[in-house]
Amino acid sequence: MNQALHLKYRPKILAKLVGQDTIRTSLTNALNNQQIAPAYLFTGPRGTGKTSTARILAKSLNCLETDQPTASPCGKCQSCRSINRSTSLDVSEIDAASHNGVDDARSLIEHSNFAPAQGRYRVFICDEFHMATSAAQNALLKVIEEPPARVVFILCTTEAHKVLPTIISRCQTFNFKALSLNTIFEHLQLVAQSESIDISDEALEAIARTARGGLRDALQLLSQLRLLGEKITPAHVIEVSGGVNPRELGNLLVKLNAGDTISTLQAVRSLVDSGKAPQLILSSLLQVYRDLLMVKSAPNCQSLVTGPLNYAQLRSLASGVDFEALNDAFAQLAKS
Ligand SMILES: Nc1ncnc2c1ncn2[C@@H]1O[C@H](COP(=O)(O)OP(=O)(O)O)[C@@H](O)[C@H]1O
Ligand SMILES: [Mg+2]
Ligand SMILES: [Zn+2]
Repeated sequence: MNQALHLKYRPKILAKLVGQDTIRTSLTNALNNQQIAPAYLFTGPRGTGKTSTARILAKSLNCLETDQPTASPCGKCQSCRSINRSTSLDVSEIDAASHNGVDDARSLIEHSNFAPAQGRYRVFICDEFHMATSAAQNALLKVIEEPPARVVFILCTTEAHKVLPTIISRCQTFNFKALSLNTIFEHLQLVAQSESIDISDEALEAIARTARGGLRDALQLLSQLRLLGEKITPAHVIEVSGGVNPRELGNLLVKLNAGDTISTLQAVRSLVDSGKAPQLILSSLLQVYRDLLMVKSAPNCQSLVTGPLNYAQLRSLASGVDFEALNDAFAQLAKS
């Protein structure tokens, strides 16, 4: 009942994976054509679906309802259920952050020599793979290139540049995208509806903006906000996520744009006094100026707005200032 939303809404089939259309299509086609690669590399920002997809792929390979890999695992057979619970004997999830050495790599290689216990494939899901030392990655190179029959490696990482190029070239790579504001908004709306959470669209939008392209953080924030037990507003979102209140931020901007030094300093003072770190204020301002520049130069750029202020506020702020002044302010801020 009170399961965290990001866990409850972990996609269990490819069709439920949002925002990653190309990945969904190519994996579906690969499975339908029985083209299984020995090693996959899932890269992309956190909370975009890498681990979820790795588990789906593991279920697809081993679902007992069909006699070969399937793009739509049943989710009910012994194999699917044990993978959902992370108790499958054939699917090992290894956290490379805590198992990053050569010895860990050797023990993994040893394990890969056992035949699958129950399913068709032994699947190794290595999370945070970039944390494995280069010695460990090198040790794995050979087995990744030519794994024993019926072994599939799925390496997941947020930092592909820390994975050895030799490893990358042996994997089939899927790049998970940061999710768009709109995709996150729509997903949150769906979850809020099916959970009967009382929340305004503006507040959902505010959550989506703080999430920076990842769904895990967005759903975690929604879980936390729901505990307030009242209708959730944008102000709640800002408060719980620890950001600068948009009203105060807007206020500060009006003063800044008017060139009124004293009251600008007073506005900043009161933000600092209310416990906001100067770093946070600076970075919030930077986001706002970035958005203001966007609003100024591109009409109808609603979906590109990522900072704490909404489109209407930005429009009204931008109308009073010229592009040059905004650009100067942005450059100044970026330097601070
Ligand atoms: N593309 C997505 N579609 C639907 N839900 C997602 C997606 N990406 C992330 N989520 C949500 O965020 C949670 C964490 O996702 P996960 O797959 O573990 O992300 P990653 O491994 O990329 O950090 C999931 O349980 C799910 O609730
Ligand atoms: Mg993950
Ligand atoms: Zn199944």
